[in-house]
Amino acid sequence: MSSDALERLRLCGVLPRHVAVIMDGNGRWAVQRGLPRHAGHRQGMNAVREAVEGARQAGLKILTLFAFSTENWHRPSNEIGALMGLLRLYAEKEKRELRRQGVEVQVLGELHRLDQGTRNAVDAIVEGTRGGDKLRLNLMISYSGREELLRAVRMIARDAAAGRLDPESIDETALEQRLFTAGMPDPDLLIRTSGELRISNFLLWQLAYTEMHVSPVLWPDFTREHLFEAVLDYQGRERRFGRVTAGE
Ligand code: IPE
Ligand code: IPE
Ligand code: MG
Repeated sequence: MSSDALERLRLCGVLPRHVAVIMDGNGRWAVQRGLPRHAGHRQGMNAVREAVEGARQAGLKILTLFAFSTENWHRPSNEIGALMGLLRLYAEKEKRELRRQGVEVQVLGELHRLDQGTRNAVDAIVEGTRGGDKLRLNLMISYSGREELLRAVRMIARDAAAGRLDPESIDETALEQRLFTAGMPDPDLLIRTSGELRISNFLLWQLAYTEMHVSPVLWPDFTREHLFEAVLDYQGRERRFGRVTAGE
Protein backbone atom coordinates (compact mmCIF):
# COMPACT_ATOMS: atom_id res chain seq x y z
CA MET A 1 0.00 0.00 0.00
CA SER A 2 1.49 3.35 -0.96
CA SER A 3 1.02 6.10 1.55
CA ASP A 4 2.17 9.68 1.52
CA ALA A 5 2.66 9.64 5.30
CA LEU A 6 4.66 6.42 5.08
CA GLU A 7 6.95 7.94 2.43
CA ARG A 8 7.43 11.02 4.58
CA LEU A 9 8.23 9.10 7.74
CA ARG A 10 10.81 7.04 5.87
CA LEU A 11 12.51 10.26 4.76
CA CYS A 12 12.07 11.99 8.08
CA GLY A 13 14.80 10.48 10.17
CA VAL A 14 14.84 8.37 13.28
CA LEU A 15 11.97 5.95 13.77
CA PRO A 16 10.71 5.15 17.24
CA ARG A 17 11.82 1.61 18.08
CA HIS A 18 9.05 1.03 20.58
CA VAL A 19 5.52 2.43 20.28
CA ALA A 20 2.91 1.87 23.00
CA VAL A 21 -0.81 2.47 22.50
CA ILE A 22 -3.69 3.00 24.91
CA MET A 23 -6.49 1.78 22.65
CA ASP A 24 -9.45 3.78 23.91
CA GLY A 25 -12.92 4.73 22.67
CA ASN A 26 -14.53 1.43 21.66
CA GLY A 27 -17.55 2.02 23.88
CA ARG A 28 -18.15 5.56 22.59
CA TRP A 29 -17.80 4.35 19.00
CA ALA A 30 -20.60 1.85 19.60
CA VAL A 31 -22.85 4.24 21.56
CA GLN A 32 -22.57 6.84 18.78
CA ARG A 33 -24.08 4.24 16.45
CA GLY A 34 -26.76 3.03 18.85
CA LEU A 35 -24.93 -0.29 19.19
CA PRO A 36 -23.99 -2.28 22.30
CA ARG A 37 -20.48 -1.65 23.66
CA HIS A 38 -19.24 -5.06 22.59
CA ALA A 39 -19.83 -4.06 18.95
CA GLY A 40 -17.18 -1.37 19.50
CA HIS A 41 -14.77 -3.92 20.92
CA ARG A 42 -15.35 -6.17 17.91
CA GLN A 43 -14.59 -3.32 15.53
CA GLY A 44 -11.59 -2.46 17.70
CA MET A 45 -10.14 -5.85 16.87
CA ASN A 46 -9.88 -4.85 13.21
CA ALA A 47 -8.02 -1.74 14.27
CA VAL A 48 -5.53 -3.97 16.11
CA ARG A 49 -4.90 -5.86 12.88
CA GLU A 50 -4.47 -2.57 11.05
CA ALA A 51 -2.03 -1.22 13.67
CA VAL A 52 0.09 -4.36 13.59
CA GLU A 53 0.36 -4.27 9.81
CA GLY A 54 1.11 -0.54 9.90
CA ALA A 55 3.83 -1.07 12.51
CA ARG A 56 5.45 -3.72 10.33
CA GLN A 57 5.21 -1.54 7.26
CA ALA A 58 6.78 1.41 9.05
CA GLY A 59 9.59 -0.76 10.38
CA LEU A 60 8.86 -0.41 14.11
CA LYS A 61 10.51 -3.07 16.27
CA ILE A 62 8.13 -3.22 19.23
CA LEU A 63 4.40 -2.44 19.45
CA THR A 64 2.81 -2.59 22.91
CA LEU A 65 -0.99 -2.49 23.04
CA PHE A 66 -3.00 -1.88 26.21
CA ALA A 67 -5.97 -4.17 25.66
CA PHE A 68 -7.40 -4.77 29.16
CA SER A 69 -6.47 -3.17 32.46
CA THR A 70 -6.72 -4.64 35.95
CA GLU A 71 -9.35 -1.96 36.62
CA ASN A 72 -11.36 -3.18 33.61
CA TRP A 73 -12.24 -6.30 35.70
CA HIS A 74 -14.74 -3.96 37.43
CA ARG A 75 -16.83 -3.60 34.24
CA PRO A 76 -20.14 -5.49 33.86
CA SER A 77 -19.59 -9.23 33.48
CA ASN A 78 -21.17 -9.37 30.02
CA GLU A 79 -18.68 -6.79 28.73
CA ILE A 80 -15.77 -8.68 30.30
CA GLY A 81 -17.07 -11.89 28.74
CA ALA A 82 -17.25 -10.23 25.31
CA LEU A 83 -13.70 -8.86 25.65
CA MET A 84 -12.29 -12.23 26.70
CA GLY A 85 -14.15 -13.90 23.83
CA LEU A 86 -12.63 -11.43 21.37
CA LEU A 87 -9.16 -11.96 22.79
CA ARG A 88 -9.59 -15.70 22.31
CA LEU A 89 -10.90 -15.18 18.78
CA TYR A 90 -8.01 -12.87 17.92
CA ALA A 91 -5.45 -15.33 19.29
CA GLU A 92 -6.97 -18.26 17.40
CA LYS A 93 -7.64 -16.44 14.11
CA GLU A 94 -4.46 -14.39 13.82
CA LYS A 95 -1.84 -16.87 14.99
CA ARG A 96 -0.99 -18.26 11.55
CA GLU A 97 -0.92 -14.88 9.81
CA LEU A 98 1.19 -13.24 12.55
CA ARG A 99 3.65 -16.09 12.37
CA ARG A 100 3.81 -15.72 8.59
CA GLN A 101 4.50 -11.99 8.99
CA GLY A 102 7.31 -12.62 11.50
CA VAL A 103 5.44 -11.07 14.43
CA GLU A 104 6.38 -12.45 17.84
CA VAL A 105 3.53 -12.07 20.33
CA GLN A 106 3.91 -11.71 24.09
CA VAL A 107 0.89 -11.44 26.37
CA LEU A 108 1.79 -9.60 29.56
CA GLY A 109 -0.19 -9.02 32.75
CA GLU A 110 -1.81 -10.97 35.57
CA LEU A 111 -2.77 -13.86 33.33
CA HIS A 112 -3.83 -16.15 36.19
CA ARG A 113 -7.05 -14.11 36.28
CA LEU A 114 -8.04 -15.23 32.76
CA ASP A 115 -10.46 -18.14 32.29
CA GLN A 116 -8.87 -21.40 31.16
CA GLY A 117 -10.09 -21.20 27.55
CA THR A 118 -8.69 -17.70 27.06
CA ARG A 119 -5.47 -18.68 28.84
CA ASN A 120 -5.01 -21.64 26.50
CA ALA A 121 -5.54 -19.46 23.42
CA VAL A 122 -3.06 -16.91 24.77
CA ASP A 123 -0.44 -19.60 25.47
CA ALA A 124 -0.95 -20.99 21.95
CA ILE A 125 -0.40 -17.66 20.18
CA VAL A 126 2.74 -16.97 22.24
CA GLU A 127 4.06 -20.46 21.50
CA GLY A 128 3.02 -20.36 17.83
CA THR A 129 4.69 -17.02 17.05
CA ARG A 130 7.90 -17.50 19.05
CA GLY A 131 11.01 -16.51 17.11
CA GLY A 132 9.29 -13.97 14.82
CA ASP A 133 11.94 -11.35 14.17
CA LYS A 134 10.19 -8.54 12.27
CA LEU A 135 8.04 -7.08 15.04
CA ARG A 136 7.45 -7.82 18.67
CA LEU A 137 3.81 -7.37 19.67
CA ASN A 138 3.10 -7.03 23.40
CA LEU A 139 -0.55 -7.43 24.31
CA MET A 140 -1.07 -6.03 27.80
CA ILE A 141 -3.96 -7.94 29.36
CA SER A 142 -5.14 -7.72 32.96
CA TYR A 143 -2.29 -5.25 33.35
CA SER A 144 -1.74 -2.44 35.84
CA GLY A 145 1.40 -0.33 36.09
CA ARG A 146 1.21 -0.11 39.88
CA GLU A 147 0.68 -3.85 40.23
CA GLU A 148 3.65 -4.46 37.94
CA LEU A 149 5.82 -2.27 40.18
CA LEU A 150 4.57 -3.98 43.35
CA ARG A 151 5.30 -7.38 41.81
CA ALA A 152 8.86 -6.26 41.02
CA VAL A 153 9.31 -4.86 44.54
CA ARG A 154 8.12 -8.16 46.04
CA MET A 155 10.67 -10.06 43.93
CA ILE A 156 13.42 -7.68 45.04
CA ALA A 157 12.40 -8.06 48.69
CA ARG A 158 12.41 -11.85 48.41
CA ASP A 159 15.87 -11.84 46.81
CA ALA A 160 17.20 -9.45 49.46
CA ALA A 161 15.68 -11.45 52.34
CA ALA A 162 17.22 -14.65 50.92
CA GLY A 163 20.63 -12.97 50.75
CA ARG A 164 20.78 -13.11 46.95
CA LEU A 165 20.68 -9.34 46.55
CA ASP A 166 22.52 -6.61 48.44
CA PRO A 167 20.04 -3.77 49.16
CA GLU A 168 22.79 -1.23 48.41
CA SER A 169 23.14 -2.62 44.90
CA ILE A 170 19.46 -2.10 43.96
CA ASP A 171 19.45 0.21 40.97
CA GLU A 172 17.22 0.95 37.95
CA THR A 173 18.46 -2.16 36.16
CA ALA A 174 17.53 -4.36 39.13
CA LEU A 175 13.97 -3.09 38.98
CA GLU A 176 13.69 -3.15 35.19
CA GLN A 177 14.79 -6.77 35.09
CA ARG A 178 11.74 -7.65 37.17
CA LEU A 179 9.14 -5.82 35.07
CA PHE A 180 7.02 -7.54 32.41
CA THR A 181 8.97 -5.50 29.86
CA ALA A 182 12.38 -6.80 31.01
CA GLY A 183 14.95 -6.63 28.24
CA MET A 184 12.98 -4.14 26.11
CA PRO A 185 13.79 -0.48 25.54
CA ASP A 186 11.26 1.95 27.04
CA PRO A 187 8.57 3.19 24.65
CA ASP A 188 9.76 6.13 22.55
CA LEU A 189 6.20 7.09 21.69
CA LEU A 190 2.88 6.64 23.52
CA ILE A 191 -0.32 7.05 21.53
CA ARG A 192 -3.69 7.41 23.25
CA THR A 193 -6.82 7.44 21.15
CA SER A 194 -10.21 9.04 21.86
CA GLY A 195 -8.75 12.29 23.15
CA GLU A 196 -8.33 11.30 26.81
CA LEU A 197 -5.43 13.06 28.51
CA ARG A 198 -4.36 10.49 31.09
CA ILE A 199 -2.11 7.48 31.56
CA SER A 200 -4.72 5.20 33.24
CA ASN A 201 -2.13 3.12 35.11
CA PHE A 202 -0.18 2.11 32.00
CA LEU A 203 3.60 1.43 32.05
CA LEU A 204 4.21 3.89 34.90
CA TRP A 205 7.94 3.22 35.15
CA GLN A 206 8.63 2.82 31.44
CA LEU A 207 6.93 6.03 30.25
CA ALA A 208 9.26 8.34 32.23
CA TYR A 209 10.65 10.05 29.09
CA THR A 210 8.24 8.82 26.42
CA GLU A 211 6.85 11.31 23.90
CA MET A 212 3.03 11.43 23.90
CA HIS A 213 0.63 11.73 21.00
CA VAL A 214 -3.08 12.01 21.77
CA SER A 215 -5.41 11.37 18.85
CA PRO A 216 -9.07 12.40 18.91
CA VAL A 217 -9.92 9.36 16.76
CA LEU A 218 -11.84 6.57 18.53
CA TRP A 219 -9.88 3.31 18.49
CA PRO A 220 -12.18 1.40 16.07
CA ASP A 221 -11.60 4.16 13.48
CA PHE A 222 -7.82 4.26 13.99
CA THR A 223 -6.04 3.23 10.78
CA ARG A 224 -2.41 2.69 9.85
CA GLU A 225 -2.44 6.21 8.37
CA HIS A 226 -3.21 7.58 11.84
CA LEU A 227 -0.30 5.53 13.17
CA PHE A 228 2.01 6.95 10.49
CA GLU A 229 0.86 10.48 11.37
CA ALA A 230 1.65 9.84 15.04
CA VAL A 231 5.13 8.63 14.09
CA LEU A 232 5.63 11.76 11.95
CA ASP A 233 4.57 13.88 14.92
CA TYR A 234 7.18 12.03 17.03
CA GLN A 235 9.86 12.61 14.42
CA GLY A 236 9.32 16.36 14.76
CA ARG A 237 9.96 16.33 18.52
CA GLU A 238 13.13 17.25 20.28
CA ARG A 239 13.85 14.76 23.06
CA ARG A 240 15.87 16.44 25.77
CA PHE A 241 15.81 14.00 28.72
CA GLY A 242 16.18 16.89 31.12
CA ARG A 243 19.25 18.33 29.41
CA VAL A 244 19.72 21.40 27.23
CA THR A 245 19.99 21.30 23.46
CA ALA A 246 23.54 20.92 22.13
CA GLY A 247 25.03 24.36 21.37
CA GLU A 248 22.74 26.32 23.72
C1 IPE B 1 -11.12 0.69 25.14
O1 IPE B 1 -12.38 1.19 24.91
C2 IPE B 1 -11.10 -0.80 25.37
C3 IPE B 1 -10.95 -1.20 26.77
C4 IPE B 1 -10.70 -0.43 27.77
C5 IPE B 1 -11.08 -2.62 27.06
P1 IPE B 1 -13.41 1.55 26.07
O2 IPE B 1 -14.27 0.35 26.31
O3 IPE B 1 -12.72 2.06 27.25
O4 IPE B 1 -14.25 2.68 25.34
P2 IPE B 1 -14.82 4.03 25.98
O5 IPE B 1 -13.70 4.71 26.64
O6 IPE B 1 -15.89 3.61 26.94
O7 IPE B 1 -15.35 4.77 24.80
C1 IPE C 1 -7.45 2.26 29.55
O1 IPE C 1 -8.70 2.66 29.10
C2 IPE C 1 -7.30 0.77 29.47
C3 IPE C 1 -7.26 0.21 28.12
C4 IPE C 1 -7.20 0.87 27.00
C5 IPE C 1 -7.21 -1.22 28.07
P1 IPE C 1 -9.93 2.88 30.10
O2 IPE C 1 -11.07 3.31 29.26
O3 IPE C 1 -10.11 1.68 30.95
O4 IPE C 1 -9.38 4.06 31.02
P2 IPE C 1 -10.14 5.23 31.75
O5 IPE C 1 -11.22 4.62 32.59
O6 IPE C 1 -10.71 6.11 30.69
O7 IPE C 1 -9.07 5.94 32.54
MG1 MG D 1 -12.18 3.96 27.81
